[in-house]
Amino acid sequence: MPEQYTENPLTAGINIKHAPQPCTLVIFGGGGDLTRRKLLPAIYNQGLEGELPANFAVLGFAIEAMDDEEYRKFARKGVEEFSRQPLDANYWPGFERCLHYLQGSFDNPDIYNKLKERLAEIEGNFGIPGNRVFYLAIPPALIETCVCQLKAAGLVMPVDGNSPFSRIIVEKPIGKDLESARKVNATLSDNFDEQQIYRIDHYLGKETVQNILAMRFANSIFEPLWNSKYIDHVQITVAEAEGVGTRAGYYDKAGALRDMIQNHILQLLTLIAMEPPWIMDADVIRDHRQDILNCLRPITAENFDQHVVRAQYGPGFHHGEDVPGYRRENGVAQDSITETFVALKMFIDNWRWSGVPFYIRTGKRMPKRASEIAIQFKSVPPILFNTSHDVPLEPNVLALSIQPNEGLSLRIATKLPGVKLKIFPVKMDFRYGATFGEQSPEAYERLLLDVMAGDATLFMRRDSVESSWAWIDNILNLWSSNRTRWIPEYAAGTWGPIEADRLIESDNRQWRML
Ligand code: BG6
Repeated sequence: MPEQYTENPLTAGINIKHAPQPCTLVIFGGGGDLTRRKLLPAIYNQGLEGELPANFAVLGFAIEAMDDEEYRKFARKGVEEFSRQPLDANYWPGFERCLHYLQGSFDNPDIYNKLKERLAEIEGNFGIPGNRVFYLAIPPALIETCVCQLKAAGLVMPVDGNSPFSRIIVEKPIGKDLESARKVNATLSDNFDEQQIYRIDHYLGKETVQNILAMRFANSIFEPLWNSKYIDHVQITVAEAEGVGTRAGYYDKAGALRDMIQNHILQLLTLIAMEPPWIMDADVIRDHRQDILNCLRPITAENFDQHVVRAQYGPGFHHGEDVPGYRRENGVAQDSITETFVALKMFIDNWRWSGVPFYIRTGKRMPKRASEIAIQFKSVPPILFNTSHDVPLEPNVLALSIQPNEGLSLRIATKLPGVKLKIFPVKMDFRYGATFGEQSPEAYERLLLDVMAGDATLFMRRDSVESSWAWIDNILNLWSSNRTRWIPEYAAGTWGPIEADRLIESDNRQWRML
């Protein structure tokens, strides 16, 4: 029986977060998919839990023709379909009053005057002191237009300690390589101060990902072992069962390296590998994460083959049904060599991690949705219990399961009960659901509140976006210098190509079975 969480009055008050401030959330692309599936349900859930600021409103802004009433219906549908908690008929009527809509084209300067008027009216009705969060839930090509228009319309307040705040949230992808990312960042910083910019990476808002810091730095037993002396290697897997779905237009130009590794997975890696920060301060923590990006060993033409594998899913199975290969998906070029799977061997060339390989793999159409970070410790010496060459003892593994079952487990060797001395690996398991008895908030719930509170810890700073691209660009360039139109294939519903197994097996290690 797992130990159940009961609130302890002594620790219940430990809250290192700032409170969200009164504000209006303006969603550019307020009629789109991200808003319907993620943003509006996230706001609803936080409202239901009493976490939103008392003075708060939403203004959806998009091209689709809707009025406030229709927008509330649109939001209700999104909540009914995608919310973590079911729609509460008693709470909804009060909640929906804070939802508003403005229809218009983002490149029309006049609409920004209307936006100003609407904001003034809403702020008057809701007692909001002019604080605004602009969420760009729009295709990357529109970022420049929206950002420049906001500035031109006088909607960006200075960071001077007296003015209400103006903050902007930008979704990935930020660029498609270093050069384009720099351009996006330059546009942002021509119009906003870096303190006002929140580059969202929803992986950083996931509960288990946030728990990495707590696990490492709120316990005394892990940190002394957290280095090359005791750790054999680290594996990060982000596997998805779904295929490209309806996103081929974007994905076929991006591929798994840009889509998952440049952002989500490199950010996970930095949290696992960073040095201990001395204070929960956004810039201190981001400086420490940045240090890791600075130490990534570059991929070069010489080490490329031993460090990088890409592949694309072919026809196969998903939940027992036949599914087409990637090139047969709607919207994908028939001769596409876009990778839907990547495996990497990476090294962090600093004192702590010297010589410790980090094996990374991510892919679509894998057997199941499963994301995990596993820290494999070194084996005990071949003495006492570990003397058999044929059956070596299984080493200790600390596994952080990010999704779908959030939790943490530690594999340890124990003696099998009985008169014989036999060693057996067992798992000490902690599952969020079982211990805390409730579903964790979705990443967007947490991240939106953080922006309202002015806490940028879980957002990407300009330098980290650019360093990640600089590292990724090496691989992209090496791929594009190889003119072949061939890419290894793996059957949909499998764990990737044989080349990925070779990458790790050539080091006498194996991918974990998830
Ligand atoms: C997005 C990628 O950033 O993350 C998608 O663009 C991917 O391709 C998604 O499917 C995965 O997110 P999650 O939270 O479902 O693991």
